[in-house]
Amino acid sequence: MIAILKFVHIASLALWCAGLLALPVLLHQYGRTAAARTQTGFSRLRHLTHFSYVAVLSPAAVVTIAAGTGLIFLIEVVDPWLLAKLLMVAGMALVHAWLGHLTSRIGHGDGGYRLPPPLLGLVLALPLIATVLWLVLAKPDLAPWLDRLPALLREPQDRELPPGVVPI
Ligand code: HEM
Repeated sequence: MIAILKFVHIASLALWCAGLLALPVLLHQYGRTAAARTQTGFSRLRHLTHFSYVAVLSPAAVVTIAAGTGLIFLIEVVDPWLLAKLLMVAGMALVHAWLGHLTSRIGHGDGGYRLPPPLLGLVLALPLIATVLWLVLAKPDLAPWLDRLPALLREPQDRELPPGVVPI
């Protein structure tokens, strides 16, 4: 079961990462050419970006996250590197959402919409992906870094629940 989930996880994350790197290039290369200002060129750009985002990137992201979450429970891993990895994955999800916003705006916005530099997505996604891969493959011992966090974040505070809150 672990082998199957890992296979699904790695296959879908390869697709998601490839998409996060390719979509900004696609938006940059085609979105700013003269061809994109003709009806045929614009329709082509629209189909290409919309299809990639809706039918490839987003399902790949969901499958990656679902399979990864399954792996956490199967392998029972709760190491600090995993927490750092999830923080980086959250950054990837934000870049994903921003690219979706751009893809949507070029299709549904009025003609006056000026596309922000899509390559910014590439600049943000590349280090995030590289860091995630490093964290998961090297599994560095981040415990000493955790010890530097303020005690408030490291230890239970044993405070009373506020009145009105019903624990599960
Ligand atoms: C919320 C999203 C994710 C979760 C919950 C998650 C969780 C996990 C878990 C629990 C493992 C097994 C670790 C082990 O064998 O000790 C794993 C493996 C792996 N993950 Fe993720 N992951 C997520 C997203 C990603 C992303 C976005 C990437 C790449 C950019 C990635 C790359 C990998 C790789 C390469 C492995 C295989 C590591 C190995 O077998 O040594 N993961 N993931």
